[in-house]
Amino acid sequence: MNSILQQDLNDFENILEKAKQQGIGFLNNLENIPTSNKNTIDPNRDLNELGLGSLEALKEFNERLAPLLVSSPGPRYWGFVTGGSTPASIVGDWLASVYDQNAQAIKAQGGVSALIEFETIHLLLQLLELPTSFLGGFVTGATMSNFTCLGVARQWFGNQLGKDFAKNGISEKINILTATPHSSSIKTLAMLGIGSQNYTTIKTIEGNREAIDIADLEQNIQTLNGKPFILISSAGTVNTADFDDFTAISKLKEKYKFWWHIDAAFGGFAAVSDKFKHLTEGWEGADSITIDCHKWLNVPYESAFYLIKKEHTNLQVETFQNSNAPYLGNPLENFNYLNVLPENSRRLRALPVWFSLLAYGKKGFQDIIETSVSLAQLFGNELLKDGNFELLAPIRLNNVCFTLKGDHNQEKVSQFLTALNDTGKVFMTPTVYQNRKGIRASFVNWRTNENDIKTVIDEMKVILSQLN
Ligand SMILES: Cc1ncc(COP(=O)(O)O)c(C=O)c1O
Repeated sequence: MNSILQQDLNDFENILEKAKQQGIGFLNNLENIPTSNKNTIDPNRDLNELGLGSLEALKEFNERLAPLLVSSPGPRYWGFVTGGSTPASIVGDWLASVYDQNAQAIKAQGGVSALIEFETIHLLLQLLELPTSFLGGFVTGATMSNFTCLGVARQWFGNQLGKDFAKNGISEKINILTATPHSSSIKTLAMLGIGSQNYTTIKTIEGNREAIDIADLEQNIQTLNGKPFILISSAGTVNTADFDDFTAISKLKEKYKFWWHIDAAFGGFAAVSDKFKHLTEGWEGADSITIDCHKWLNVPYESAFYLIKKEHTNLQVETFQNSNAPYLGNPLENFNYLNVLPENSRRLRALPVWFSLLAYGKKGFQDIIETSVSLAQLFGNELLKDGNFELLAPIRLNNVCFTLKGDHNQEKVSQFLTALNDTGKVFMTPTVYQNRKGIRASFVNWRTNENDIKTVIDEMKVILSQLN
């Protein structure tokens, strides 16, 4: 064995202890670590001939890199839709690295890992009150979940025309209908060879809504004259957390032939609370659903899952099977995750979610979701009370989409947001909503509380006074 590796092996416990202390130091100080950082590194570091050993590498990490890392799991990181990581999820994540299993097959190496993944999906279906008619699996994020679901939808579309697109490539125009898709679904259309411009935009409901107009949807369906299509719908649009009417879409599904996909990356968690589950009513009729765990489930990054109806498992295998690897066996007889999703080798990605669900149960997540929504409402009320801001849309769930009051202030929005983010006290993201420049604050982090709202509102007042 290489001598540095031997030295690390002998000192393993001490090394892990130091890494633990490092982690605790970061997590216990999240409140004070800035949410943005302008310093950078020169990324052209030379590779050493002889390794440093883990402790020296940790020392360099502390000196050069750690001071630049931002408080993204902290309570005032409201940009994008960014969850934090709970204690249980970190335990699961660390142990997934320690055990380093390949989560693939049931009857092979890492077999129990696949069963743990099944068990975790089973727990998630209970959390979300969804039926067991879905088969689920873990991928890195909602983008890859949309890719997985729409990949099978593409195969379904071909199948309706008697074609096998997975084997022979796409030979027909694929009809896609959607109203307010997340950019990742459009990126997925590019990755799947469908084309990022090849979709029909359905109107949204009149007024300040991003949800699909069901009458316009039906009219567009009728112009297809019975041809199959794929509908991409939303449970929680990223700007204003709007939801399509799933009960109405279910009724259309009784009349027309289509694959129904729901991007529920964060909005799916509305189903966990009695107060908000009406928003997802009817979603169990979908063919596929995307849900992100590194958002409202508050597990570390690279965690999302897809749910695809079991009746489509053959199409899923056709799409993702390793067809030239006979040693892997018949994909329909021996279930193996590598034949139903994009990656082959994968870490035990279910473990952080498994730990979280066991540790906090349904009540824990109900509390996180309901607290996030009341904090979004509190923040919105404080903005209105201040008088210098206006909401671009009503607060439907956990996202606050707002701007500086008055059209004459539109050029100042970016300047205001940059100055605010530069304080390092809070991080929000810019957006454009109904042709107006705006700002989004998304509440999903389990640590955020009312004091954070006060801190941010105070900071916003200071920045405004400096701008005027
Ligand atoms: C509705 C929706 N779908 C998909 C995504 C993409 O998620 P990810 O970055 O985890 O791939 C997001 C991210 O904010 C989202 O809000």
